[in-house]
Parts: sequence; C-alpha cells; structure tokens
Amino acid sequence: MRHLIDPTDLSSEELNEIIALALDIIDNRPKYAEACKGKKLATLFYEPSTRTRLSFTSAMMELGGNVIGFSDAMNSSVSKGETVADTTRVINCFADIIAMRHFVEGGPFVSALHSDTPVINAGDGSHAHPTQTLTDLLTIKREIGRFDNLTVGFCGDLKFGRTVHSLIKALSKFKGINVILIAPDELRLPGYMKQEVCDRLGIPCREVESLEEVMGELDVLYMTRVQKERFLDEEEYERVKDCFVLTADKLRDAKPTMRILHPLPRVNEIATDVDSDPRAAYFRQVENGKFVRMALILKLLEWAHREDKHREMLPNDTVIGEHRCSNPKCISNVEAHAVEPLFRPSADGNGMRCVYCESRPSK
Ligand code: CP
Repeated sequence: MRHLIDPTDLSSEELNEIIALALDIIDNRPKYAEACKGKKLATLFYEPSTRTRLSFTSAMMELGGNVIGFSDAMNSSVSKGETVADTTRVINCFADIIAMRHFVEGGPFVSALHSDTPVINAGDGSHAHPTQTLTDLLTIKREIGRFDNLTVGFCGDLKFGRTVHSLIKALSKFKGINVILIAPDELRLPGYMKQEVCDRLGIPCREVESLEEVMGELDVLYMTRVQKERFLDEEEYERVKDCFVLTADKLRDAKPTMRILHPLPRVNEIATDVDSDPRAAYFRQVENGKFVRMALILKLLEWAHREDKHREMLPNDTVIGEHRCSNPKCISNVEAHAVEPLFRPSADGNGMRCVYCESRPSK
C-alpha cells in the first residue's frame, strides 16, 4: 500500500508526475470533474487547520468524490482514548483514502502501518508536512519555472517549522540548490536535519542571522511563522516571536524575479504592505495547494497497491522495543501502551533514530 508520510517517500519521477498532473488539472478542470466519483476521502484532523483541511475537502469535491471526517478529534472517540491504530482500522471501513493531521509526531506514520487504504500525512507535530511541500513545489514551478539552480532562503522558525523540514528534504532531489538558513540561535534547523540534508546529501547550507545581508541572492524567500504552540517555555517564545518581520522596505535589494512563499497562517512576520508586491506569492500558493492535492489523491489511488517503502523498510534494519524515544511529543511516548518503539540506524551513521519522529533514543 502506498502512503505519503514524508516527502522522501516520493521518487523524483513520482514527484514530477504529481506536479505535471496538477498542471494539467489547472488547464483542463472539467476533464477531472468525475475522476473520483464514488470515492470517499476521510480528513482526520487532530490539530487545527484552515488551508490543509479545506483544500483537501475542496480537492475531493472538485474530483467528484465525497468527504467524511472530523476537524476536532475531541468530538470523536479519540476523546474516549481510542488509539490512532484503532481509529484507522475503523475509518478503513468507510473511506478509500485518509488525510491525517496530528499534533503528535509520527501519528500518520502509525496510521499508515495499520491502514488498508493510502494515508496522507497532513502535518505531524513539528516533524513533517509533505503536502505543503508539494504545494510549495507547484508554486515554485508556476512562479519561477524550474526546480534546479535555485538559492532558497528559509527565514524564521526553522526549529519547529515542519514545512521547512519537508521542503528542504524535497529540494535535495534537485541540482544546483543552495540553502540559506536565516534564524536566531534559538530557532535554528535541528541538528539531524542539517546532518541529513546539508552534510550527507551535500546541499550547500549557510546559516546567517540577518535577512538583509542575503536578500539580493535569493530566488525564493520562504518565510515562516514562529510556532507558538510548539514551545514548552512561553518566555522563550516571547523572546523570539518577532525575530524577523519582512516589510516592503526590506525588499529593496531583492531580485525582481524573486518569489516570497509562506505556508500561512502568518502572524506578523510579513507586513501587509508586502501583499501587493508581485513577488508576494503566498496567496497564489494557497490555491496551488488545492490543485496539487487533487493530483496527489488521484495518484495515490492509482498507486495504492504499489510497494510500500515503510512496510518494506521496517523488517530489514528496524530495532523493535530496545530503546525509548527521547521526544515527549512522539507517538511512541504519547500512545506508549499501543505503539512499539521502533528505531533505525541514522542515515549519517551516527547512532539510532526513532522511526516515527527521527529523534534520538533517550539516555
Ligand atoms: N499551511 C498550513 O498547513 O495551513 P493550515 O494549518 O491552515 O492547514
């Protein structure tokens, strides 16, 4: 069974197929109006969302299919203690495909392990958000016309910003990518991401603390919100919340062809005086999210019975039950009674990583 849990679950060819299909959908919308007739999508959202949930809903409706699900897990049997695995088995009786957002890292991964239908990770904690990545890639394709030879600046909360983690991983598949990481010390990209993408895959990554010093180099400026909901310490959030605010004035040195992306919602990291600049692509990016999710639903239903990378990978080098994950927000800790700890050797050869959230074992 094929799922989309992490952006690296898709090969470069599959990624290109999804983007090409999204572009065809944009040009030929009536052709797809009944493409999912008789099919049901379940949107299981354990965490708030506007864009992701409604774009999935809208995507399935535009394909002629139906949507069931919940937008508040506390109104479902999750409030009685039902596990992700059991909820998934139940939803398998009703739906052909699942989109799950979870505030716990690894929730959609556990769902995929127990699902007879494709599971799409619609965002898991501060870990990954692969459908936002597809949205970002379609936006780059439509706005800039290429994926190769781009200098991409990621600005703001690079520690908790799951969209950043997913997009950096996806960009590592293309040639000539330069990454500039613009963040205060407290919000730097996690070490495991830097090791995996910058060191192991050889993507040039430069860390700076000022947006102005690199503005003129960028083809894409990816702004992010400081993720208040992920901070364990409120005082730390207050210290860093306004670390970068993009204003029209700061775009003075930016290339005319540069594009500003933001997964949204924004708080105050982009001033509203930027919105009317033609380089501000973030509201166009939202609409691309619907088209790319239409393409993803179609492709995953088509590929449903292709080999599943996760099932294939688990038996080979996975260590079951020997360690516990150090991340308190990992599904293996939150549902410890139901989810076995699973670890695999780290890609950088440096110890073990949790299969669900990529954290280290606890000491
Ligand atoms: N970009 C994004 O994931 O937005 P929502 O949280 O509104 O879904």
